[in-house]
Amino acid sequence: MKNKFYITTPIYYANAKPHIGHAYTSVAADILARWNRQRGRKTFLLAGTDEHGLKIQKKAEEAGKNPQQFVNEIAEEFKNLCRKLNVRYDNFIRTTDNNHTKAVQKVLRTLYDKGAIYKGAYEGLYCAGCEQFKNKSDLINGKCPEHNVKPEFIKEESYLLKMREIQPRIIKKIKSGELEIIPKKRRNEILSFLENNKLEDISISRKNVSWGIPLPFGENHTTYVWVDAFLNYLTGIGWDGSLPLKKREIKLSPFKKGRVGEGFLNFWPPNLQIIGKDILRVHATIWPAILTHLEIKLPEKIFAHGHILSGGKKMSKTLGNVISVDEMVEKFGADGTRYLLMSAGTFGEDIDVTMERMVEKYNADLANGLGNLVSRVIKLMEHRAKSSEQITTDNKQSLEQVASFIGSLELDKALDYIWNIVRDNNKYIEENKPWELVKTDEKKFKEVMERLAQNLYLISELLVSFMPETAEKIKTALKTREKIVLFQRVK
Ligand code: MSP
Repeated sequence: MKNKFYITTPIYYANAKPHIGHAYTSVAADILARWNRQRGRKTFLLAGTDEHGLKIQKKAEEAGKNPQQFVNEIAEEFKNLCRKLNVRYDNFIRTTDNNHTKAVQKVLRTLYDKGAIYKGAYEGLYCAGCEQFKNKSDLINGKCPEHNVKPEFIKEESYLLKMREIQPRIIKKIKSGELEIIPKKRRNEILSFLENNKLEDISISRKNVSWGIPLPFGENHTTYVWVDAFLNYLTGIGWDGSLPLKKREIKLSPFKKGRVGEGFLNFWPPNLQIIGKDILRVHATIWPAILTHLEIKLPEKIFAHGHILSGGKKMSKTLGNVISVDEMVEKFGADGTRYLLMSAGTFGEDIDVTMERMVEKYNADLANGLGNLVSRVIKLMEHRAKSSEQITTDNKQSLEQVASFIGSLELDKALDYIWNIVRDNNKYIEENKPWELVKTDEKKFKEVMERLAQNLYLISELLVSFMPETAEKIKTALKTREKIVLFQRVK
């Protein structure tokens, strides 16, 4: 398919409620999807939940719930997260969906018949938090650094996926750019990992986990949750697991009215997969290995962003530095939250946020910055005789500059650039004092207002993907000239 943009977020574990880290990934993906849609590309944003595995099985037990009921409730919370933040996905895939589980079984059968999966035994250190086997070198003081727990030693009969023979091909594909990993720093990390370590064939089945997709061969085994999870990127656009890729009808999200039932497999491969740095290694090893065995095209690009820290530390309930998405949305609204998350630091690096700093930034950039600019311009426009002329922008340079930042995934820089325009225009008002000009120099007043209205329109155009509601409100106000207050100061 030409002129298309297929973008995915990771599917989130349905073991606990969504947090700000999930919001960060999803908002970034939504901005990129909206940007591409606005440019007229056929766009598909896939979101979803990862609902099987040991971690979830344990959590459901602790909660005294049956796992299906448990994940049903949490999946709703993740859909709500998207609603609250205006993340407009095209499909929300759940790995307990019947169509997904059937496709996964089909794929496993294919891989087994091809000899890519074989029966053996596996032993290793397993971290249920990561749902991954760990090398000794991954641990710090014998513990998983992500979850601060000692991994469990597991030795059991298992089905294994051939990784060793695929390793040279993965290296080649990353080096040639067929699979582009960004930022560059992460690409180099992955390449040096792959060049210095021999990938072992990995265990893709579990005997002690009942909450998983049963292997179609091998009794009493369920599918390793990551294999199940990766395939969402294909089943989420309607793959039924058969080769060559065939279209299947899928029911799309309520956001996509009137498009239910179309086949979307033509969107393959993803133009971009957004993930966090903690899951890059699996995305750059197991995922391309599965696709290579199946002879399916690899994603074009994987972008790994950094983590959100709070006050220099990982957020944790014990430290009391957890920032809740609900609290953010309540205080700053959907657009305010989107802005604060994406402008908090370099996209790709770890970023540090605190509630105090966000309140400050909200007041400075949104209430005083953009909010003030919009209300002043609209108010001054009352003095202009109403006319039917269309306000448009032909500011190609700004559009191109923002497009170039977005193209290189420098979302924070794009926002910086837009806010420079906001600041310049506030300065322009101060310098030209149109409230005086209206009394003294009609012609100059008209010129100044013309320019301000055009620049405001430009700002709204540039903000469509970042802050969709705000952009819309600005456009409407420019048309109706009704006074608006976009952002109230918060404490
Ligand atoms: N289920 C797997 C992904 C399977 S994709 C085939 C998973 N889920 S997760 O819920 O644990 O995390 C999903 C995403 O949230 C990851 O990209 C992760 O990096 C991101 N975040 C989790 N905590 C985060 C922060 N504190 N900051 C930023 N993002 C973080 O992994």
